Amino acid sequence: MAELQEEINKRRTFGIVSHPDAGKTTLTEKLLLFGGAIQEAGAVKSNKIKKGATSDFMEIERQRGISVATSVMAFDYRNRKVNILDTPGHKDFAEDTFRTLTAVDSVIVVIDVAKGVEAQTEKLVEVCRMRKTPIIVFINKMDREGKDGIDLLDEIEEKLGLKVTPLSWPAGMGQRFKGVYNIYKEELLLFSPHGKQVQDDILKISDLSDPILDEKLGPALAKELREETEMMTGVYPKFNREDYLNGDVSPVFFGSAINNFGVKELLDCFVEIAPTPLPRITEEREVLPNEKNFSGFIFKIHANMDPKHRDRIAFLRICSGTFKRNTNYLHIRKEKKIKFSNPTAFMASKKSIVEEAFPGDIVGLYDSGNFKIGDSLTEGEKLHFKGIPSFSPEQFRFVNNMDPMKSKQLEKGLDQLMDEGVAQMFKTETTGRIIIGTVGALQFDVIQYRLQHEYGASVAYEPVGLNKACWVTYDDVEAYKDFRKKRMRDLAKDKDGNLVFLAESSWSLKMAQENHPEIEFHFTSEG
Ligand code: G4P
Repeated sequence: MAELQEEINKRRTFGIVSHPDAGKTTLTEKLLLFGGAIQEAGAVKSNKIKKGATSDFMEIERQRGISVATSVMAFDYRNRKVNILDTPGHKDFAEDTFRTLTAVDSVIVVIDVAKGVEAQTEKLVEVCRMRKTPIIVFINKMDREGKDGIDLLDEIEEKLGLKVTPLSWPAGMGQRFKGVYNIYKEELLLFSPHGKQVQDDILKISDLSDPILDEKLGPALAKELREETEMMTGVYPKFNREDYLNGDVSPVFFGSAINNFGVKELLDCFVEIAPTPLPRITEEREVLPNEKNFSGFIFKIHANMDPKHRDRIAFLRICSGTFKRNTNYLHIRKEKKIKFSNPTAFMASKKSIVEEAFPGDIVGLYDSGNFKIGDSLTEGEKLHFKGIPSFSPEQFRFVNNMDPMKSKQLEKGLDQLMDEGVAQMFKTETTGRIIIGTVGALQFDVIQYRLQHEYGASVAYEPVGLNKACWVTYDDVEAYKDFRKKRMRDLAKDKDGNLVFLAESSWSLKMAQENHPEIEFHFTSEG
């Protein structure tokens, strides 16, 4: 047990989120360099859709090819084991990102100093805030002209709804950028472009009135830094780790990822303050990481790119106990025991077979179709992990089978793609027609392409006038009968047989809610 606790204490499992282009890939790469996980820059391929790519979904295929390698990047740093979980950058894949965020214990948000808080960051941070995930903010690209630091912190507080406290503060920016003062460690870090940071560039300054500041920064910047840091201590709360861990206050760092500047400071502080693996909520009870028995859940499924090999990798987040290779575990949904002979760990881009893994770790399980997102594995206890919802889709199309000879392949393909969480599928109650619902429009192209290439099935889409799908539950059977009679043609079943209301417009949804107050409408599959 002591050994388990020791392993737990070492782990830091987190995700980096940002609006595309803020510098997520660059920061990830620099963190991996510090962790010794990669030897050279350029080793981490960006997972964003390249600007000007000929076709978005071909780009997605390219991206899918590299995203197994970058799904989880693990490395050791200062006797800690750091697990970085990659999140897709494109907005149409926000749902994948939300799901990945269920498997992390904290988050680093990257913000471009010139652009400030952008749309996608707002959405992602909202989810983290709801879950009280501890957040660190890294303001990137300080080597460029951008927004004033204090204005930016105001913007973060306002748009992201976060309370912040700066742990470093920049001296100038853009052409005038001279460095950052690390408030946490009371050190001035002098900037030199292109990451040629040497130990001499770090000055221990516990008193900012020290004249060395004027010497190193010039009198004007030194004055500015003194004034600004003084003002900040009056405005922002002193850093308190408890507040950060409770998700109440977010520490902020400034730097320039491309120049490798401020990144080590971020990492050093991160491994010190970031949470160790946190408890997880199940429908039955709270699961603590240091429980003796193993438990975990699947948060992501990645299909093999090679159509000849239909196997997939299911990503398992370990929540409690010790996961062991070749040991029987209970697949709760299927009520069957499974063991894994080749579970893989992800140390940077290398994959290797693991004998055992601990809470906070992510293990890749080869799967021939047993898993879907949200599935739990335990040593026998029936646990259903919560917080891995399906989101109410907003775009819909009818699916028509264009090759009746390939009906079986189509069925199988759709089934597996839905298990991967690419989209959601509904069958209407009246006509039995298949409708696919997605959060983003790109998924339709992806599904069509993958059905053709991986399953040999051919589909065409047909528009359907729908605006929202929501899950329906009820206690009052009579009320339901009445609702069903009146709204039969708007009802469908999802893949698991749950009842779904397909609304033509927000008005029609509103009317249904008003006319049938006994019926409950849910916008995620978890209510
Ligand atoms: P993302 O994953 O969040 O989408 O961003 P990514 O790291 O790919 O960075 C987006 C662009 O911003 C890249 O330039 C990258 O070089 C640049 N960048 C990252 N950090 C900094 C920084 O601290 N300062 C400056 N000035 N630029 C930074 P690009 O031209 O789009 O790509 P590339 O051709 O340089 O790879």
